[in-house]
Amino acid sequence: MRILFIGDIYAETGLKMLQRYLPRIRKDYKINFTIVNGENISTSGKGIKKSEYFALKDLEVDCVTLGNHTWFRDETKKLIDEVSDLLRPANSNIHQPGKGTQLFNVGNTKIRVTSLMGRTFMADLSDNPFCKLDDILKDDNSDIHIVDIHAEATSEKVALAAEFDGRVQAVIGTHTHVQTADERVLPKGTAFLTDAGMTGPYDSAIGADLEAVIYRLKTGMPRRFVPAKGPAQLCGLIMEFSGSKVSRLKRIFISPQRPYEPNKW
Ligand SMILES: [Fe+2]
Repeated sequence: MRILFIGDIYAETGLKMLQRYLPRIRKDYKINFTIVNGENISTSGKGIKKSEYFALKDLEVDCVTLGNHTWFRDETKKLIDEVSDLLRPANSNIHQPGKGTQLFNVGNTKIRVTSLMGRTFMADLSDNPFCKLDDILKDDNSDIHIVDIHAEATSEKVALAAEFDGRVQAVIGTHTHVQTADERVLPKGTAFLTDAGMTGPYDSAIGADLEAVIYRLKTGMPRRFVPAKGPAQLCGLIMEFSGSKVSRLKRIFISPQRPYEPNKW
């Protein structure tokens, strides 16, 4: 069983990059199940519209996880209850629509995907992700459980992965948009990557146009962030499982300076 996780798709540039490479990656690496974080896919770099969700489904994406920008587009509130594979963080406020964990049957394998949000340095404080994942595991009978921890602090992602080592099959960080090079299998068998990285504009400040970001940081004056133009990158992680045991990990980073390498583990 090979599962591909793609990090935060950012705006139209990110979607186009995914359209260009996802079919090739799926074929070259014989991917059985694809998860993408889609909370930045909208044209502004925030949220997800119905048309963008369906563009991901056209690419045969199996599950879309979200994060702190889940509710940026009004239409998401309705869409999230109409489909089963669009997940907002499970530890969101209980009054929010949608759900944060879902079981998928892939052949004879039961794959669970859970979306969680961190609390350290995050503006929208969610419920405790450790307690929420404990709750989810009480009723879980999956063979492979993949957790997206959408969080700012690397320490929070590392701690969550360590706490659930051996109880879920993978913990993958999202949200910071800069891919970390620390993919590993933890002592009790859980695959871990602190951050999968971002799929979107390459010459940018985590997706946004550099000029506006530099202006705000340099002057302290307001200016709206817009998605950067220009070349793109794609970031993700391929996980190979034998039953419930992770057997191989392959980090993917495609950019103008790092060409795509087909089937090179
Ligand atoms: Fe985020």
